[in-house]
Amino acid sequence: MAPYPYNNLELKPENVTILVVDDDPSIRHLLKAIVEQQGNKVLDAGSGKEALEIFDKNGADIVMTDLLMPEMDGIRLTQNLLERKPQLPIIVITGFADKEVAVNALRAGAYDIVEKPFEPEDVILPITRAMGKIRLETLLAQNIEELKSAQIALETAKNSLAEQVSKKTSELMQTNQELERRLKEVESAISQLKEFDRRKTEFIAMASHELRTPLAIMKTAISNLMAGIKGPLSPPQITALQVIDLDIDRFTTTINELLNLSKIESGQLTVYLEPANLPIIISHILQTLHEEIEKKKLQVDTKIPENLPPAFCDRDKTEHILLNIVGNAVKYLQEGGRMLITASPKDEFVEMSIADNGPGIAPDQLAIIFDKFKKIATTSKKIDGLGLGLAIAKEFANVQGGTIAVTSEVGKGSTFTVTLPSILREKATSTVPLKKIA
Ligand SMILES: Nc1ncnc2c1ncn2[C@@H]1O[C@H](COP(=O)(O)OP(=O)(O)OP(=O)(O)O)[C@@H](O)[C@H]1O
Ligand SMILES: [Mg+2]
Repeated sequence: MAPYPYNNLELKPENVTILVVDDDPSIRHLLKAIVEQQGNKVLDAGSGKEALEIFDKNGADIVMTDLLMPEMDGIRLTQNLLERKPQLPIIVITGFADKEVAVNALRAGAYDIVEKPFEPEDVILPITRAMGKIRLETLLAQNIEELKSAQIALETAKNSLAEQVSKKTSELMQTNQELERRLKEVESAISQLKEFDRRKTEFIAMASHELRTPLAIMKTAISNLMAGIKGPLSPPQITALQVIDLDIDRFTTTINELLNLSKIESGQLTVYLEPANLPIIISHILQTLHEEIEKKKLQVDTKIPENLPPAFCDRDKTEHILLNIVGNAVKYLQEGGRMLITASPKDEFVEMSIADNGPGIAPDQLAIIFDKFKKIATTSKKIDGLGLGLAIAKEFANVQGGTIAVTSEVGKGSTFTVTLPSILREKATSTVPLKKIA
Protein backbone atom coordinates (compact mmCIF):
# COMPACT_ATOMS: atom_id res chain seq x y z
CA MET A 1 0.00 0.00 0.00
CA ALA A 2 1.32 3.44 -0.93
CA PRO A 3 2.09 5.45 2.22
CA TYR A 4 -0.16 8.42 1.36
CA PRO A 5 -2.90 7.38 -1.04
CA TYR A 6 -4.93 10.56 -0.79
CA ASN A 7 -4.92 13.79 -2.59
CA ASN A 8 -4.02 16.38 0.01
CA LEU A 9 -7.11 18.54 -0.54
CA GLU A 10 -9.89 16.05 -1.05
CA LEU A 11 -10.27 12.76 0.72
CA LYS A 12 -13.02 10.96 -1.11
CA PRO A 13 -14.97 8.30 0.90
CA GLU A 14 -14.38 5.69 -1.84
CA ASN A 15 -10.65 6.08 -1.23
CA VAL A 16 -11.01 5.29 2.43
CA THR A 17 -11.20 1.61 3.38
CA ILE A 18 -12.83 0.76 6.70
CA LEU A 19 -12.30 -2.60 8.33
CA VAL A 20 -15.28 -3.61 10.47
CA VAL A 21 -14.56 -6.28 13.13
CA ASP A 22 -17.31 -7.91 15.23
CA ASP A 23 -18.00 -11.50 16.20
CA ASP A 24 -21.74 -10.73 16.02
CA PRO A 25 -22.68 -11.01 12.32
CA SER A 26 -25.81 -8.87 12.71
CA ILE A 27 -23.88 -5.94 14.15
CA ARG A 28 -21.13 -6.47 11.57
CA HIS A 29 -23.69 -6.26 8.79
CA LEU A 30 -25.33 -3.25 10.31
CA LEU A 31 -21.98 -1.46 10.56
CA LYS A 32 -21.10 -2.51 7.02
CA ALA A 33 -24.37 -1.12 5.73
CA ILE A 34 -23.89 2.22 7.46
CA VAL A 35 -20.32 2.56 6.23
CA GLU A 36 -21.17 1.54 2.68
CA GLN A 37 -23.93 4.08 2.62
CA GLN A 38 -21.32 6.68 3.43
CA GLY A 39 -19.52 5.59 0.25
CA ASN A 40 -16.50 4.07 2.00
CA LYS A 41 -14.98 0.76 0.97
CA VAL A 42 -15.63 -1.87 3.59
CA LEU A 43 -13.80 -5.00 4.67
CA ASP A 44 -15.07 -7.11 7.54
CA ALA A 45 -13.77 -9.71 9.93
CA GLY A 46 -15.47 -11.87 12.55
CA SER A 47 -12.52 -12.05 14.95
CA GLY A 48 -9.38 -10.21 15.96
CA LYS A 49 -7.18 -12.81 14.31
CA GLU A 50 -9.08 -12.62 11.02
CA ALA A 51 -8.96 -8.83 11.23
CA LEU A 52 -5.15 -8.89 11.51
CA GLU A 53 -4.89 -11.23 8.50
CA ILE A 54 -7.11 -9.00 6.37
CA PHE A 55 -5.24 -5.91 7.53
CA ASP A 56 -1.88 -7.48 6.68
CA LYS A 57 -3.19 -8.48 3.28
CA ASN A 58 -5.26 -5.50 2.20
CA GLY A 59 -4.56 -2.80 4.71
CA ALA A 60 -7.20 -0.38 5.95
CA ASP A 61 -7.48 3.30 6.69
CA ILE A 62 -9.91 3.07 9.62
CA VAL A 63 -10.79 0.09 11.82
CA MET A 64 -14.06 -0.27 13.76
CA THR A 65 -13.87 -3.07 16.25
CA ASP A 66 -16.06 -4.62 18.88
CA LEU A 67 -14.51 -4.69 22.31
CA LEU A 68 -15.67 -8.02 23.62
CA MET A 69 -14.65 -10.84 21.32
CA PRO A 70 -13.43 -14.36 22.04
CA GLU A 71 -9.69 -15.14 21.68
CA MET A 72 -8.54 -11.58 20.95
CA ASP A 73 -10.55 -8.72 22.41
CA GLY A 74 -10.80 -5.23 20.94
CA ILE A 75 -8.06 -3.85 23.18
CA ARG A 76 -5.48 -6.43 22.09
CA LEU A 77 -6.52 -6.06 18.48
CA THR A 78 -6.04 -2.32 18.87
CA GLN A 79 -2.55 -2.86 20.29
CA ASN A 80 -1.63 -5.27 17.47
CA LEU A 81 -2.93 -2.98 14.78
CA LEU A 82 -1.15 0.08 16.19
CA GLU A 83 2.11 -1.87 16.24
CA ARG A 84 1.63 -2.29 12.50
CA LYS A 85 0.41 1.22 11.77
CA PRO A 86 0.84 3.68 14.70
CA GLN A 87 -1.39 6.44 13.32
CA LEU A 88 -4.31 4.14 12.37
CA PRO A 89 -7.64 5.51 13.68
CA ILE A 90 -9.39 2.70 15.56
CA ILE A 91 -12.96 3.20 16.69
CA VAL A 92 -13.94 0.86 19.49
CA ILE A 93 -17.57 -0.23 19.83
CA THR A 94 -18.60 -1.25 23.30
CA GLY A 95 -21.68 -2.40 25.00
CA PHE A 96 -20.26 -1.43 28.40
CA ALA A 97 -20.72 2.18 28.67
CA ASP A 98 -18.57 2.38 31.67
CA LYS A 99 -15.73 4.75 32.09
CA GLU A 100 -13.08 2.19 32.92
CA VAL A 101 -13.54 0.30 29.66
CA ALA A 102 -13.46 3.51 27.70
CA VAL A 103 -10.28 4.66 29.49
CA ASN A 104 -8.59 1.29 28.83
CA ALA A 105 -9.46 1.44 25.15
CA LEU A 106 -8.21 4.97 24.87
CA ARG A 107 -5.02 4.05 26.77
CA ALA A 108 -4.44 1.21 24.31
CA GLY A 109 -4.48 3.91 21.60
CA ALA A 110 -8.09 3.81 20.34
CA TYR A 111 -9.13 6.89 18.53
CA ASP A 112 -12.80 6.98 19.56
CA ILE A 113 -15.48 5.00 21.29
CA VAL A 114 -19.04 4.23 20.14
CA GLU A 115 -21.55 2.84 22.58
CA LYS A 116 -24.04 0.10 21.79
CA PRO A 117 -26.80 0.37 20.95
CA PHE A 118 -25.98 3.02 18.36
CA GLU A 119 -27.76 5.04 15.75
CA PRO A 120 -26.15 5.42 12.29
CA GLU A 121 -25.09 9.02 13.16
CA ASP A 122 -23.21 7.70 16.22
CA VAL A 123 -21.02 5.73 13.84
CA ILE A 124 -20.83 8.28 11.04
CA LEU A 125 -19.57 11.07 13.28
CA PRO A 126 -16.37 9.31 14.50
CA ILE A 127 -15.73 8.06 10.95
CA THR A 128 -15.93 11.62 9.67
CA ARG A 129 -13.58 12.77 12.42
CA ALA A 130 -11.16 9.91 11.67
CA MET A 131 -11.19 10.91 8.00
CA GLY A 132 -10.34 14.44 9.10
CA LYS A 133 -7.46 13.07 11.13
CA ILE A 134 -6.23 11.07 8.11
CA ARG A 135 -6.44 14.14 5.90
CA LEU A 136 -4.49 16.23 8.39
CA GLU A 137 -1.86 13.55 8.82
CA THR A 138 -1.60 13.14 5.07
CA LEU A 139 -1.15 16.87 4.68
CA LEU A 140 1.39 16.91 7.44
CA ALA A 141 3.28 14.00 5.93
CA GLN A 142 3.22 15.66 2.53
CA ASN A 143 4.52 18.88 4.03
CA ILE A 144 7.26 16.95 5.76
CA GLU A 145 8.11 15.23 2.48
CA GLU A 146 8.22 18.56 0.70
CA LEU A 147 10.34 20.00 3.45
CA LYS A 148 12.67 17.03 3.22
CA SER A 149 13.06 17.35 -0.53
CA ALA A 150 13.51 21.11 -0.16
CA GLN A 151 16.18 20.41 2.41
CA ILE A 152 17.84 17.92 0.09
CA ALA A 153 17.70 20.45 -2.76
CA LEU A 154 19.14 23.07 -0.43
CA GLU A 155 21.89 20.74 0.67
CA THR A 156 22.69 19.90 -2.97
CA ALA A 157 22.72 23.60 -3.87
CA LYS A 158 24.90 24.32 -0.87
CA ASN A 159 27.33 21.60 -1.86
CA SER A 160 27.47 22.70 -5.46
CA LEU A 161 27.93 26.30 -4.32
CA ALA A 162 30.72 25.28 -2.01
CA GLU A 163 32.24 23.30 -4.88
CA GLN A 164 31.98 26.28 -7.22
CA VAL A 165 33.41 28.61 -4.60
CA SER A 166 36.34 26.34 -3.98
CA LYS A 167 36.86 25.89 -7.75
CA LYS A 168 36.74 29.64 -8.34
CA THR A 169 39.00 30.24 -5.36
CA SER A 170 41.61 27.88 -6.67
CA GLU A 171 41.28 29.41 -10.16
CA LEU A 172 41.68 32.83 -8.61
CA MET A 173 44.69 31.70 -6.65
CA GLN A 174 46.23 30.34 -9.82
CA THR A 175 45.54 33.59 -11.68
CA ASN A 176 46.97 35.48 -8.76
CA GLN A 177 50.11 33.40 -8.77
CA GLU A 178 50.41 33.86 -12.53
CA LEU A 179 49.93 37.62 -12.10
CA GLU A 180 52.52 37.74 -9.35
CA ARG A 181 54.95 35.85 -11.58
CA ARG A 182 54.30 38.24 -14.46
CA LEU A 183 54.59 41.23 -12.14
CA LYS A 184 58.00 40.00 -11.06
CA GLU A 185 59.01 39.59 -14.71
CA VAL A 186 57.78 43.10 -15.51
CA GLU A 187 59.52 44.50 -12.44
CA SER A 188 62.77 42.86 -13.41
CA ALA A 189 62.35 44.07 -17.03
CA ILE A 190 61.70 47.59 -15.74
CA SER A 191 64.74 47.56 -13.50
CA GLN A 192 66.82 46.24 -16.41
CA LEU A 193 65.46 49.01 -18.64
CA LYS A 194 66.19 51.58 -15.94
CA GLU A 195 69.71 50.27 -15.72
CA PHE A 196 70.12 50.47 -19.53
CA ASP A 197 68.65 53.96 -19.48
CA ARG A 198 71.02 55.04 -16.72
CA ARG A 199 73.98 53.62 -18.61
CA LYS A 200 72.80 55.31 -21.81
CA THR A 201 72.54 58.68 -20.03
CA GLU A 202 75.95 58.13 -18.48
CA PHE A 203 77.39 57.22 -21.88
CA ILE A 204 75.88 60.29 -23.56
CA ALA A 205 77.25 62.54 -20.81
CA MET A 206 80.70 60.99 -21.05
CA ALA A 207 80.83 60.91 -24.86
CA SER A 208 79.63 64.51 -25.10
CA HIS A 209 82.32 65.71 -22.71
CA GLU A 210 84.97 63.73 -24.55
CA LEU A 211 83.89 65.17 -27.92
CA ARG A 212 83.72 68.78 -26.82
CA THR A 213 87.45 69.07 -26.13
CA PRO A 214 88.75 67.94 -29.57
CA LEU A 215 86.04 70.09 -31.22
CA ALA A 216 87.27 73.14 -29.30
CA ILE A 217 90.86 72.35 -30.31
CA MET A 218 89.79 71.96 -33.96
CA LYS A 219 87.94 75.26 -33.81
CA THR A 220 91.02 77.06 -32.45
CA ALA A 221 93.24 75.46 -35.12
CA ILE A 222 90.84 76.61 -37.87
CA SER A 223 90.71 80.12 -36.51
CA ASN A 224 94.56 80.18 -36.36
CA LEU A 225 94.80 78.91 -39.92
CA MET A 226 92.30 81.54 -41.12
CA ALA A 227 94.29 84.20 -39.27
CA GLY A 228 97.25 83.22 -41.48
CA ILE A 229 99.46 81.85 -38.70
CA LYS A 230 100.69 79.06 -41.00
CA GLY A 231 101.04 81.36 -43.98
CA PRO A 232 98.57 83.06 -46.35
CA LEU A 233 95.54 81.06 -47.61
CA SER A 234 93.89 81.13 -50.99
CA PRO A 235 90.16 82.17 -51.14
CA PRO A 236 89.02 78.57 -51.90
CA GLN A 237 91.03 77.36 -48.86
CA ILE A 238 89.38 80.02 -46.67
CA THR A 239 85.90 79.01 -47.94
CA ALA A 240 86.65 75.35 -47.18
CA LEU A 241 87.77 76.23 -43.66
CA GLN A 242 84.62 78.33 -43.11
CA VAL A 243 82.46 75.35 -44.08
CA ILE A 244 84.36 73.13 -41.65
CA ASP A 245 84.01 75.79 -38.95
CA LEU A 246 80.23 75.91 -39.45
CA ASP A 247 80.01 72.12 -39.28
CA ILE A 248 81.99 72.13 -36.04
CA ASP A 249 79.50 74.68 -34.62
CA ARG A 250 76.56 72.48 -35.61
CA PHE A 251 78.26 69.45 -34.15
CA THR A 252 78.97 71.32 -30.91
CA THR A 253 75.31 72.42 -30.68
CA THR A 254 74.15 68.83 -31.12
CA ILE A 255 76.55 67.58 -28.48
CA ASN A 256 75.41 70.32 -26.09
CA GLU A 257 71.80 69.31 -26.62
CA LEU A 258 72.63 65.67 -25.88
CA LEU A 259 74.44 66.79 -22.76
CA ASN A 260 71.39 68.80 -21.69
CA LEU A 261 69.19 65.78 -22.27
CA SER A 262 71.43 63.57 -20.17
CA LYS A 263 71.33 66.15 -17.36
CA ILE A 264 67.52 66.27 -17.53
CA GLU A 265 67.22 62.50 -17.54
CA SER A 266 69.64 61.97 -14.69
CA GLY A 267 67.96 64.70 -12.63
CA GLN A 268 71.11 66.79 -12.60
CA LEU A 269 69.62 69.92 -14.08
CA THR A 270 70.45 72.99 -12.02
CA VAL A 271 69.12 76.52 -12.48
CA TYR A 272 70.37 79.89 -11.28
CA LEU A 273 67.42 82.20 -10.86
CA GLU A 274 68.12 85.90 -11.12
CA PRO A 275 66.42 89.00 -12.55
CA ALA A 276 66.79 88.96 -16.35
CA ASN A 277 66.05 91.60 -18.95
CA LEU A 278 64.07 89.80 -21.63
CA PRO A 279 64.35 92.46 -24.39
CA ILE A 280 68.14 92.15 -24.16
CA ILE A 281 67.96 88.36 -24.39
CA ILE A 282 65.61 88.59 -27.38
CA SER A 283 67.80 91.06 -29.23
CA HIS A 284 70.82 88.87 -28.53
CA ILE A 285 68.99 85.92 -30.09
CA LEU A 286 68.01 87.91 -33.14
CA GLN A 287 71.66 88.92 -33.52
CA THR A 288 72.72 85.29 -33.34
CA LEU A 289 70.19 84.36 -36.01
CA HIS A 290 70.79 87.53 -38.00
CA GLU A 291 72.58 85.88 -40.92
CA GLU A 292 69.91 83.23 -41.43
CA ILE A 293 67.12 85.82 -41.12
CA GLU A 294 68.78 87.95 -43.76
CA LYS A 295 69.43 85.00 -46.03
CA LYS A 296 65.74 83.97 -45.99
CA LYS A 297 64.61 87.60 -46.20
CA LEU A 298 62.38 87.15 -43.18
CA GLN A 299 60.45 90.01 -41.65
CA VAL A 300 60.86 89.91 -37.87
CA ASP A 301 58.94 92.40 -35.69
CA THR A 302 59.11 92.79 -31.93
CA LYS A 303 56.46 94.37 -29.73
CA ILE A 304 57.67 94.72 -26.17
CA PRO A 305 56.31 97.33 -23.74
CA GLU A 306 58.89 99.54 -22.06
CA ASN A 307 57.56 98.83 -18.60
CA LEU A 308 57.95 95.04 -18.97
CA PRO A 309 59.13 93.78 -15.59
CA PRO A 310 62.31 91.71 -15.61
CA ALA A 311 61.82 87.96 -15.54
CA PHE A 312 63.11 86.05 -12.56
CA CYS A 313 64.79 83.18 -14.36
CA ASP A 314 67.93 81.38 -15.39
CA ARG A 315 69.33 83.60 -18.15
CA ASP A 316 71.24 80.91 -20.04
CA LYS A 317 68.33 78.53 -20.02
CA THR A 318 65.86 81.24 -21.02
CA GLU A 319 68.14 82.20 -23.91
CA HIS A 320 68.32 78.54 -24.85
CA ILE A 321 64.50 78.24 -24.84
CA LEU A 322 63.95 81.36 -26.93
CA LEU A 323 66.81 80.54 -29.28
CA ASN A 324 65.23 77.19 -30.01
CA ILE A 325 61.72 78.57 -30.56
CA VAL A 326 62.82 81.60 -32.61
CA GLY A 327 65.37 79.35 -34.33
CA ASN A 328 62.61 76.89 -35.23
CA ALA A 329 60.51 79.72 -36.71
CA VAL A 330 63.50 80.86 -38.78
CA LYS A 331 64.20 77.25 -39.76
CA TYR A 332 60.65 76.34 -40.78
CA LEU A 333 59.55 79.67 -42.34
CA GLN A 334 59.58 79.95 -46.12
CA GLU A 335 61.65 82.68 -47.72
CA GLY A 336 60.03 86.09 -47.10
CA GLY A 337 58.05 84.73 -44.13
CA ARG A 338 57.06 86.82 -41.12
CA MET A 339 57.60 86.50 -37.41
CA LEU A 340 56.25 88.61 -34.55
CA ILE A 341 57.79 88.46 -31.08
CA THR A 342 55.76 90.03 -28.27
CA ALA A 343 56.15 90.16 -24.52
CA SER A 344 53.73 91.31 -21.84
CA PRO A 345 53.31 91.09 -18.08
CA LYS A 346 50.65 88.70 -16.84
CA ASP A 347 50.01 88.74 -13.09
CA GLU A 348 53.30 87.62 -11.56
CA PHE A 349 54.57 86.23 -14.86
CA VAL A 350 55.98 87.52 -18.11
CA GLU A 351 54.46 86.06 -21.25
CA MET A 352 56.34 85.96 -24.52
CA SER A 353 54.87 84.81 -27.77
CA ILE A 354 56.64 83.96 -30.98
CA ALA A 355 54.19 83.85 -33.90
CA ASP A 356 55.13 82.88 -37.43
CA ASN A 357 53.23 82.48 -40.68
CA GLY A 358 55.11 79.29 -41.53
CA PRO A 359 53.78 75.82 -42.50
CA GLY A 360 51.97 75.25 -39.18
CA ILE A 361 51.65 71.95 -37.31
CA ALA A 362 48.80 69.43 -37.70
CA PRO A 363 46.58 69.01 -34.57
CA ASP A 364 47.62 65.37 -33.98
CA GLN A 365 51.28 66.37 -34.10
CA LEU A 366 50.90 69.25 -31.66
CA ALA A 367 50.69 66.89 -28.73
CA ILE A 368 54.00 65.20 -29.54
CA ILE A 369 56.29 68.00 -30.67
CA PHE A 370 57.52 68.41 -27.09
CA ASP A 371 58.53 64.75 -26.95
CA LYS A 372 62.22 64.06 -27.41
CA PHE A 373 63.47 62.94 -30.83
CA LYS A 374 60.10 63.80 -32.44
CA LYS A 375 60.50 65.44 -35.81
CA ILE A 376 57.47 66.05 -37.91
CA ALA A 377 57.40 66.31 -41.65
CA THR A 378 56.16 69.90 -41.84
CA THR A 379 57.95 70.68 -45.08
CA SER A 380 58.97 68.59 -48.02
CA LYS A 381 62.57 69.74 -47.52
CA LYS A 382 64.81 67.76 -45.20
CA ILE A 383 65.65 70.03 -42.30
CA ASP A 384 68.52 69.49 -39.86
CA GLY A 385 67.92 68.73 -36.20
CA LEU A 386 67.55 65.88 -33.74
CA GLY A 387 64.04 66.78 -32.64
CA LEU A 388 65.33 67.57 -29.18
CA GLY A 389 65.00 71.36 -29.10
CA LEU A 390 61.42 71.66 -27.84
CA ALA A 391 61.73 68.75 -25.41
CA ILE A 392 64.70 70.44 -23.75
CA ALA A 393 63.08 73.90 -23.95
CA LYS A 394 60.00 72.61 -22.13
CA GLU A 395 62.08 71.04 -19.35
CA PHE A 396 64.10 74.24 -19.08
CA ALA A 397 60.90 76.29 -18.75
CA ASN A 398 59.33 73.93 -16.21
CA VAL A 399 62.39 73.78 -14.03
CA GLN A 400 62.26 77.59 -13.72
CA GLY A 401 58.56 77.56 -12.80
CA GLY A 402 57.47 78.50 -16.32
CA THR A 403 55.54 76.90 -19.17
CA ILE A 404 55.55 76.57 -22.94
CA ALA A 405 52.37 76.24 -25.00
CA VAL A 406 51.64 76.17 -28.70
CA THR A 407 48.75 76.87 -31.03
CA SER A 408 49.02 76.22 -34.71
CA GLU A 409 47.07 75.92 -37.92
CA VAL A 410 48.40 74.08 -40.93
CA GLY A 411 49.13 76.53 -43.75
CA LYS A 412 48.69 79.57 -41.52
CA GLY A 413 51.46 79.42 -38.97
CA SER A 414 52.30 78.66 -35.35
CA THR A 415 52.42 80.63 -32.11
CA PHE A 416 54.60 79.46 -29.23
CA THR A 417 53.94 81.08 -25.85
CA VAL A 418 56.60 81.01 -23.15
CA THR A 419 55.65 82.06 -19.63
CA LEU A 420 58.29 82.72 -16.98
CA PRO A 421 58.00 84.04 -13.43
CA SER A 422 58.57 87.78 -13.26
CA ILE A 423 60.47 89.69 -10.61
CA LEU A 424 57.06 90.48 -9.05
CA ARG A 425 56.57 86.83 -8.26
CA GLU A 426 59.99 86.65 -6.69
CA LYS A 427 59.08 89.66 -4.50
CA ALA A 428 55.72 88.15 -3.61
CA THR A 429 57.35 84.93 -2.45
CA SER A 430 60.27 86.96 -0.95
CA THR A 431 63.10 84.52 -1.51
CA VAL A 432 66.74 85.42 -2.08
CA PRO A 433 67.33 86.83 -5.57
CA LEU A 434 69.96 84.30 -6.62
CA LYS A 435 68.70 80.77 -6.39
CA LYS A 436 70.10 77.47 -7.37
CA ILE A 437 67.60 74.69 -7.85
CA ALA A 438 68.69 71.13 -8.32
N1 LIG B 1 57.68 77.20 -35.87
C1 LIG B 1 57.44 75.99 -36.31
N2 LIG B 1 56.72 75.78 -37.44
C2 LIG B 1 56.47 74.55 -37.91
N3 LIG B 1 56.87 73.41 -37.30
C3 LIG B 1 57.56 73.53 -36.17
C4 LIG B 1 57.88 74.81 -35.60
N4 LIG B 1 58.58 74.61 -34.46
C5 LIG B 1 58.69 73.27 -34.31
N5 LIG B 1 58.09 72.61 -35.33
C6 LIG B 1 57.95 71.15 -35.50
O1 LIG B 1 58.22 70.55 -34.26
C7 LIG B 1 59.24 69.56 -34.38
C8 LIG B 1 60.05 69.53 -33.10
O2 LIG B 1 60.80 70.70 -32.92
P1 LIG B 1 62.18 70.62 -32.18
O3 LIG B 1 62.71 72.01 -32.04
O4 LIG B 1 61.98 69.83 -30.94
O5 LIG B 1 63.07 69.74 -33.13
P2 LIG B 1 63.91 70.16 -34.41
O6 LIG B 1 63.87 71.62 -34.59
O7 LIG B 1 63.37 69.31 -35.54
O8 LIG B 1 65.33 69.62 -34.04
P3 LIG B 1 66.38 70.29 -33.02
O9 LIG B 1 65.67 71.39 -32.32
O10 LIG B 1 66.77 69.18 -32.15
O11 LIG B 1 67.49 70.79 -33.87
C9 LIG B 1 60.05 70.01 -35.57
O12 LIG B 1 60.71 68.90 -36.20
C10 LIG B 1 58.99 70.61 -36.46
O13 LIG B 1 58.39 69.61 -37.24
MG1 LIG C 1 64.46 73.02 -32.98
